[in-house]
Amino acid sequence: MNILVTGGCGFIGNHVVRNALLIPGVSAVVNLDLLTYSGNLLNLEDVNDERYSFVHGSITDSHIVQKTLQDFDIDVILHLAAESHVDRSINSVQPFIETNIDGTRVLLESVVSASSSGKKIAFVHVSTDEVYGSLEPDEHSFTEETPLNPQNPYAASKASSDMLVNAFINTHDISAAITRCSNNYGPRQFPEKLIPLMVLKAKKGEQLPVYGDGKQIRDWIHVEDHANGILSTMLALYMGTIASGEVFNFGADNEQQNISIVQHIISRTGANLSQIKHVTDRPGHDRRYAMGYQKAKAILGWKPEIDWEVGINDTIKWYMENPDWIRSIETGEYREYIKEQYKS
Ligand code: NAD
Ligand code: DAU
Repeated sequence: MNILVTGGCGFIGNHVVRNALLIPGVSAVVNLDLLTYSGNLLNLEDVNDERYSFVHGSITDSHIVQKTLQDFDIDVILHLAAESHVDRSINSVQPFIETNIDGTRVLLESVVSASSSGKKIAFVHVSTDEVYGSLEPDEHSFTEETPLNPQNPYAASKASSDMLVNAFINTHDISAAITRCSNNYGPRQFPEKLIPLMVLKAKKGEQLPVYGDGKQIRDWIHVEDHANGILSTMLALYMGTIASGEVFNFGADNEQQNISIVQHIISRTGANLSQIKHVTDRPGHDRRYAMGYQKAKAILGWKPEIDWEVGINDTIKWYMENPDWIRSIETGEYREYIKEQYKS
């Protein structure tokens, strides 16, 4: 099996690339990444496997997408490349429309084009719990049947891409599945997201900006569990044990308030509670997410394996013990490294 991962230099993508290389029968793992601000070549620097290749380019570029599919005789696409940060989508929605919607359109059209030349390519579209909107405190977790109700521009762009995937399955009979996961945590997450941002600021003695009352709830899952969910979906789709059009939710039964995560980070980093600063809330801030994953458990045999207490403490430790990775991001050196390697 030859796999194309889009966005493999990002937080989740690099874990997917690493774990894909562990699957017996995988002959190639190709990573197509534009290296935007959150794409970091250092995230895969230690992967030394001749089956792994990196292609620098955008999913919005149909020429590079089609050439990559042909050059590597790709059988499966794992589509993760995206603009992923909600706050950025509130400030500027255009890159979200371009990458998340139009980039997905280019990939889907390329799958159709390959199919008309006789090459079947399975497509796993990595989406998010945010497409379902926000839950009230006493509401049941989201299921795959929950209607799409995105509440911020990022979520709307992801829901749009989900709908495009469904439309291509229905219209062009492509083989595709959609995965939707809750908030990921773990090593190598760009430090604009809650957990790495707070660890770095706590360590430096800076203020910790908690949006609003900090009682918003997310269902935190370790990135390794999510990566394995994506790969389980891929194998089921490729082997034909699931039909095209299936959706799988991944979650971890781990609802945590933001404020309690920040307090925990303070306790593990030697920071001080007085560093907490409640700041103006995110506009349209979703109050609560929780994912029901019974379908993935029953059909894929998937369940979250990493315990929150262990996972969060290891994650905090990782950010404390990898100053080179942090420094390269804070100084922008990781961008220089990219420029040096990909001057063209
Ligand atoms: P990330 O921002 O860390 O990584 C995104 C990657 O995509 C980067 O390497 C970036 O360079 C690349 N990229 C961006 N635009 C591109 C383009 N036009 N062409 C090629 N590559 C491009 O994001 P992440 O947190 O790893 O999220 C990956 C996927 O998982 C996204 O689709 C996101 O919606 C989804 N997701 C994320 C979470 C989460 O908690 N982080 C949860 C559920 C779903
Ligand atoms: O739910 C899945 C989604 O999780 C993914 O689809 C997104 O790609 C990913 O970015 C993440 O979105 P969130 O908005 O939930 O993640 P973020 O880390 O930005 O914020 C988590 C919570 O913490 C959220 O309620 C906002 C809050 N927050 C965040 C930051 C950056 C703060 O209170 N202060 C902050 O400085």
